[in-house]
Amino acid sequence: MEEQSKYAFGVDVGTENVRAVALEIAGERVKVIAYGEAPNEKGMRKGIVTDLSGPAEATDRALKTVESMGGVNVDAAYVSINGAHISSEQVTGMIAVSSNEGITRDELNRLEDTAMSGRITTNRQVLDVIPLNYTLDGQSGIRQPLGMMANKIEIVANVISGLTPSVDALGRAMGQATLRVLQFIPTSVAAARAVLTEKQMENGVCVIDFGASTTSVAVYDEGDLQYVGVVPAGAVNITKDLAISLELNTEAAEQIKLRYVTADFTETGKEITMRHNGETVTFLKDEVNQIVKDRLEDIFAHVYEHLERAGYAQKLPEGAVLTGAGSNMKGIAGFAKENLKMATRVGIPGNGLSGVVEEIEKPEWATAVGLALSMADDGNFSGVDDEKEHKAFSLFGLFKKKK
Ligand SMILES: Nc1ncnc2c1ncn2[C@@H]1O[C@H](COP(=O)(O)OP(=O)(O)OP(=O)(O)O)[C@@H](O)[C@H]1O
Ligand SMILES: [Mg+2]
Repeated sequence: MEEQSKYAFGVDVGTENVRAVALEIAGERVKVIAYGEAPNEKGMRKGIVTDLSGPAEATDRALKTVESMGGVNVDAAYVSINGAHISSEQVTGMIAVSSNEGITRDELNRLEDTAMSGRITTNRQVLDVIPLNYTLDGQSGIRQPLGMMANKIEIVANVISGLTPSVDALGRAMGQATLRVLQFIPTSVAAARAVLTEKQMENGVCVIDFGASTTSVAVYDEGDLQYVGVVPAGAVNITKDLAISLELNTEAAEQIKLRYVTADFTETGKEITMRHNGETVTFLKDEVNQIVKDRLEDIFAHVYEHLERAGYAQKLPEGAVLTGAGSNMKGIAGFAKENLKMATRVGIPGNGLSGVVEEIEKPEWATAVGLALSMADDGNFSGVDDEKEHKAFSLFGLFKKKK
């Protein structure tokens, strides 16, 4: 009998662009069947929803494209969450084991609750809990203690959370787009799923999603997500800086950025004349270089601060992988390498996928693809007959439990 197709959907709600991807999963084969993109023209600032209708409408449009291209109904998806309010915190906890038949799932849940109590403030919504290490009766380094015998168990876990009003607002905007959020995943974490290998995550690596108005960082080591942080600035800040310094409107500044800006800053003494909307704009390439360089240095200095805070500055053997549309800037990997003092490359999603992959093989699609892949990983499929297969994300419910 032919295996029934299952579907997984990722929706990346960016400050400037909403991108949605549909995957069809049949056995081992994962196929990109549709993708859709819509500009998010209003209602978001630095990754945070400020007006529900803007992201709701953009999401609706992106999903309509996906639905007509893929011939599927997108009712539920994994959705990106972003903004400087997203953070990770290491917590520790200890409990006495009551069962004498080995450690149970319930006990691990109780242990996580103990570790988090009082540490995560009430105005924060827990998005994920990643156990990093268990210690059983003093023996540390245990990865999976289920079924093991011990009197006392300790945990070190990484808790990812966001401010409740911001998480709630994004959930409501998605609700207006009649999309059920099965899981929120931070932008950079979702991108990591699409561009990193397990081996890189094991050795130590980070993903830097250089978006329009955020630059988000996710650090992996020993196979686990160790740290998440968001810098509230991105590629749009370059446009704004150019507009201010060159006394141009942002449209003309954006054109200069897309047509002439590179991050290798080599040209000197050149005057460039550009036609924009019937007007002639003249500028010195060196002046533009300086404006762009100042902004990029500032953004990457903040990224470096996050790496230091995570304890991983210059300690990631697999280096950095850049995603987000900002990483289309020519020379950005070299610039990042110099400023972050580690090997850097641009991450392209699509590896191992079939279907309409060519179109999504761009760094700006990493998050949407990673979200859909994460949904598939979790077996949280859509489009199957049994609605019960959905495990809907409850905003004020319990945090996600590791399977
Ligand atoms: N070649 C390029 N050089 C420089 N910037 C670029 C290039 N291509 C796209 N960009 C910029 O990338 C930005 C859009 O990035 P992206 O679509 O990843 O953002 P977003 O996901 O909407 O925002 P965020 O993730 O910050 O919420 C825009 O500012 C755009 O000008
Ligand atoms: Mg983005």
